Amino acid sequence: MRSKLKRFAENAEAANVIQPGKPLFDKIKGHWHELYFKNKNPLTVEMACGRGEYTTGLARLFPQRNYVGVDIKGDRIWKGARLARQEGMQNVAFLRILIHHVLDYFAENEVDEIWLTFPDPQPKDRHEKRRLTHPRFLDMYKVILQPDGWLRFKTDNTGLFTYTLEVLQARPDIRDLTYTFDLYESPLQEEHYGITTRYEQMFAAQGEKIKYLKFRFKD
Ligand SMILES: C[S@@+](CC[C@H](N)C(=O)[O-])C[C@H]1O[C@@H](n2cnc3c(N)ncnc32)[C@H](O)[C@@H]1O
Repeated sequence: MRSKLKRFAENAEAANVIQPGKPLFDKIKGHWHELYFKNKNPLTVEMACGRGEYTTGLARLFPQRNYVGVDIKGDRIWKGARLARQEGMQNVAFLRILIHHVLDYFAENEVDEIWLTFPDPQPKDRHEKRRLTHPRFLDMYKVILQPDGWLRFKTDNTGLFTYTLEVLQARPDIRDLTYTFDLYESPLQEEHYGITTRYEQMFAAQGEKIKYLKFRFKD
């Protein structure tokens, strides 16, 4: 508990954590490039980022792109944000919000790529609306993602993965859907850059195959 409070206090001071009460929080929508990154480089957003392994891992590999990790849990975000500060990464920010409100923080077409990494599977039928690949969330991602942008999704969970494929295949506004039930044995493997998240490591160690898909929206 004490360490959680310490993390929250550090987040409150950190310029790379954007959260309620910070000056940028209410004006960042549509202004990420100008107000935060101070450049026009393409923007990748990692949803449900937890400790932000993709956010920091990709930012290290691609300094000419910008990365924002989104999650509601401040103590998890703290980890990635601290790493980014320690390494002096100027192309990383973390946004602490519920993804339900993502349209209040990114403008139409402001995002060039979305990664969704190991979201909670929410297996109960009555919790379907909480799944971060439910149509209501896809509708939001579609607004903020520019038309050629890819959405990339990684999970260990077969139920969530097949659910997501069904949702996508039923939608008329999806193109270039590509997927694998076993990323590590797939030619698509190179697309994840060997970056593994905390949950990925836990589930891969238990023998779960990592599933991956990507797609774009039609205009
Ligand atoms: C299973 S963890 C995965 C974390 C990380 N991506 C990983 O792979 O290690 C799921 C994360 O999603 C976040 N999350 C779930 N639903 C969310 C929502 N509606 N808005 C924001 N964050 C959410 C949780 O706080 C948690 O950190």
